[in-house]
Amino acid sequence: MTDKDKIIDGKAVAARIKEEIKNNIRERGIKPALSVILVGDDPASAVYVNNKKKACEFCGIESRSYELPSETTEEELLSLIDTLNKDKEINGILVQLPVPEHIDPDKVIEAISPLKDVDGFSTQSVGALSVGKKGFVPCTPAGIIELLHSYDVEISGKNCVVMGRSNIVGKPAAMLLLRENGTVTVTHTKTRDIKEITGRADILIAAVGKPGMIDESYIKEGAVIIDVGIHRLDPGKNEGRKLCGDVDFDSVYDKASLITPVPGGVGPMTIAMLMKNTLLAFDMQDGR
Ligand code: GUN
Repeated sequence: MTDKDKIIDGKAVAARIKEEIKNNIRERGIKPALSVILVGDDPASAVYVNNKKKACEFCGIESRSYELPSETTEEELLSLIDTLNKDKEINGILVQLPVPEHIDPDKVIEAISPLKDVDGFSTQSVGALSVGKKGFVPCTPAGIIELLHSYDVEISGKNCVVMGRSNIVGKPAAMLLLRENGTVTVTHTKTRDIKEITGRADILIAAVGKPGMIDESYIKEGAVIIDVGIHRLDPGKNEGRKLCGDVDFDSVYDKASLITPVPGGVGPMTIAMLMKNTLLAFDMQDGR
């Protein structure tokens, strides 16, 4: 039996945020614009990019889409970014990752103007976050904090454990939790006695990239569980479920006090925060 009050409804929170952005844009009569660049034909990336474009349309943000073949050279991509950096009509630039192997993602990230870096991946944005200055915060970790606030989860003084140290999720999530006065531990593949650490977490952020890895033996009674993973399951198996997270939902459910589902938890928040960052980019460039 599931107690619905335990489930963090990311879809509903994201819908509310997008509605607020839509109203803000309509009332001010502005037209922020986001460039979305996809290189190659990774099917999962195509789905994410499509969802981002749909969210733009809903909010009243113009999305300019560039779907480039996988043979696109690094030089061609950098040249497009340069053109978009100079284009006054464009407020945000996003290159969907991963890019094909012959393109260096770091070069791509650093080529985006810091004023248009709506993903918050550039060295300048990361630096601003780490010293507590204003700047673009990566969308997934920003969405996690919004979810915790929406459900009145106190972060200050709590043991927060972030599983995973990626630049996109783990590291910025740790910085944000620290900014909120959490006591933060980051675990990774070389961490010893991992369950001893995760078992003390009041708030556990799972971003390990391994389907269903975290079961009830990793968590303490009453923990808040945020599942960042998203994995496609074999069709036909798994009782019709198409997606799962890093957390074994059924195993941890009874022990958790709050938990995000997959899908419908963190995923929709990432896109809502991208919309928020695009509006922020517009305001920064417009000098308001
Ligand atoms: N690939 C996976 N997550 C992201 C993201 O948040 N932004 C971009 N640009 N690519 C991604």
